[in-house]
Amino acid sequence: MDKLVITGGPRLCGEVAISGAKNAALPILCASLLSAEPLILSNVPDLNDIGTMLKLLAQMGVKVEREGNQVTLDASGLHSPLAPYELVKTMRASILVLGPLLARCGEAHVSLPGGCAIGARPVDQHIKGLLAMGSEIAVEHGYVVAKIGARTGKLKGARLFTDMVTVTGTENLMMAACLAEGDTVIENAAREPEVVDLAQCLVSMGAQISGAGTDVIRIRGVERLHAACHRIMPDRIETGTFLCAAAATGGDVRLTGTSTAYLDVVIDKLMDAGCEIVGARSRSLESIHLIAPPRLKAVSIRTSPYPAFPTDMQAQFMAINAVAEGTAIIRETIFENRFMHAVELQRLGADIKIDGNTAVMKGVDRLQGATVMATDLRASASLVIAGLVAEGETHIERIYHLDRGYDHIEAKLTTLGAAIRRERA
Ligand code: UD1
Repeated sequence: MDKLVITGGPRLCGEVAISGAKNAALPILCASLLSAEPLILSNVPDLNDIGTMLKLLAQMGVKVEREGNQVTLDASGLHSPLAPYELVKTMRASILVLGPLLARCGEAHVSLPGGCAIGARPVDQHIKGLLAMGSEIAVEHGYVVAKIGARTGKLKGARLFTDMVTVTGTENLMMAACLAEGDTVIENAAREPEVVDLAQCLVSMGAQISGAGTDVIRIRGVERLHAACHRIMPDRIETGTFLCAAAATGGDVRLTGTSTAYLDVVIDKLMDAGCEIVGARSRSLESIHLIAPPRLKAVSIRTSPYPAFPTDMQAQFMAINAVAEGTAIIRETIFENRFMHAVELQRLGADIKIDGNTAVMKGVDRLQGATVMATDLRASASLVIAGLVAEGETHIERIYHLDRGYDHIEAKLTTLGAAIRRERA
């Protein structure tokens, strides 16, 4: 298995381009299933989860053409509403094919998903919503087997309420509702910017959606969706990860192809830590310029659904707090098992005490390189950041998690002056 070897020390300086958002691209690729006409996407990131999703769509009969960051999907020949375990097991987002397949084909067989080992992560809310829209669903041999009752052959618009805020749950139900008969209202909807990006893509395909970005989304079902072009939004988590890497190393970095929009709370925390973010209050910035102090101040965070602090940035902030001045408290409220990186950071010398969903951290003067194991996607990113500031060499094993979600991370970090290399097994 490949590993990353990082020699800590260099300040990150210079400019790097941020890619399109993984978590917007994945549902939007699935939206192609809703139409018999082509969907042309630009700014699609080059990472393994996207490759897996494209394979999954192709084996269902979607024609996929990829040229650089542009992907054209043509689901006119969709023949098989089946998402097999072999493809789904590495990626929880595969469940996003369920709603579109059911709406377009009237049936779907989708393996229960795998993905990051950060808690139980059930899909009961997706199923609850689709049941309320008139489908019949059973879980058989590890597969969600869904069909629409023979009478109408269509899902029915309904009033839906999810028990908790779920991002992919909201996206699945919003996509299914686009082709349902009548009106659907999703209450307690996720307000994440990626939900809004998906809604914008669906609207450009002819869907009737209002309220995306608020906690009540209304969808009026239409007969069919048509061809469209859409540009995927910038990846706010990749942006935040590079900002943390620059901050931890006392760097001076400009990120292009992204903006401070959607990153308010992350930017605030980095400024609390002592970073300067040039023009931070303008939402229309075409790039973000961060200048870090020699040593950061510790900052406490509490994760919560958007617009509060994202759980996908929690691990990276644990890394920067590991070497900051003072004590920080980190509370994880979204996933019950998302502190696995803490044990690995401790191997590098971090002072962290975990009690349930709370971590209390005391910044140390320096971390020391060691061999560590990446346990999930964002945990891997936190280990990279820690490796960049640790004394000596840090070896990060199991980096396939990192490759799932980051577009050429070591090449981008090298551009900024990091001493990082991949050793192939
Ligand atoms: C998405 C993101 C992921 C991010 C997460 C939270 C994608 C592809 N992934 O994941 O990067 O960390 O949002 O911002 O967009 N839950 C249930 N039942 C359900 C659905 C969810 O109990 O049917 C629970 C989950 O276990 C979790 C919480 O709800 O505790 C939120 O999960 P959810 O928002 O659904 O996460 P994902 O959409 O899988």
